[in-house]
Amino acid sequence: MSSLFDFDAPPDRYAVMGNPVSHSLSPRIHTEFARRARQRLEYTAIQVDEGGFAQAVGNFQGAGGKGLNITVPFKQPAFALAERLSERAERARAVNTLRFDAGTIYGDNTDGAGLVRDLCVNLGLNITGRRVLLLGAGGAARGAIAPLLDLHPATLVVANRHVDRARELRSDFARADALRAGGFDDLEGEAFDLLINATSASLHGEALKLPASLLASGAWCYDMMYAAEPTPFLKWAAVYGAAGTSDGLGMLVEQAAESFAWWRGVRPDTSGMVRSLREYLRDRGA
Ligand code: ATR
Repeated sequence: MSSLFDFDAPPDRYAVMGNPVSHSLSPRIHTEFARRARQRLEYTAIQVDEGGFAQAVGNFQGAGGKGLNITVPFKQPAFALAERLSERAERARAVNTLRFDAGTIYGDNTDGAGLVRDLCVNLGLNITGRRVLLLGAGGAARGAIAPLLDLHPATLVVANRHVDRARELRSDFARADALRAGGFDDLEGEAFDLLINATSASLHGEALKLPASLLASGAWCYDMMYAAEPTPFLKWAAVYGAAGTSDGLGMLVEQAAESFAWWRGVRPDTSGMVRSLREYLRDRGA
């Protein structure tokens, strides 16, 4: 008699691809999700050279891999590679999750959902009617825009070091009245209730060159990056008197849960994971 479970079959294979990727917590997170959801899978981290992304995805798919998470700097290349896109990936024009099914590459973007869940559910922030600044115009920023707009902020300003990239992004969301775009210099004299760093500057330990006036009274600062120590952006926030700060560890866990649900059809339990990952980061010292 055939069984629903095939205990002799190799586990389904998943991975995160990026550069750099060796310090990624995703293998740890998905392995724990699998344990909690009683799913048999294997999840690894694969470092990919700048020009080798499509080849690396093809190799993984060809070897029977089931799905990938995609991180810096390949979220836009992953969008280009996907043959079928979810609505939220289409809107973001960036992909952080791929699924391989019957020879087809499906693309999704779970970053925005993960961010919004962390901001609104875990941190309890209310974004409706607030002034929000999103720093960066790469793949991470793109994923956040539509889910943030869905919460009806008073304004959503996207500011990027290279202003052309911010303007290009603005043109992809043509009908969003609350959305503005510009360079860091254009922010002079403005103030925001929530500032979100979606640049990869913190990944390289770099601080952003921002005007000091950006924090409204009671403002929160959120860095999509995470580390054992406060990131340069969160140190800047503390110096200029932010009412609250958070790094992106909660977003990482929540976007991973969305990806896991999309791959496996089961939403994993995320409770307590930020705390245990924080301890792990502290022990690892990075
Ligand atoms: P991701 O997928 O993480 O968004 P990306 O598409 O490579 O990665 O985008 C990186 C983002 O971080 C961009 O907005 C980039 O700004 P530019 O478009 O001007 O290059 C931003 N970034 C990286 N390092 C930065 C730094 N030191 N200062 C300001 N912005 C930085």
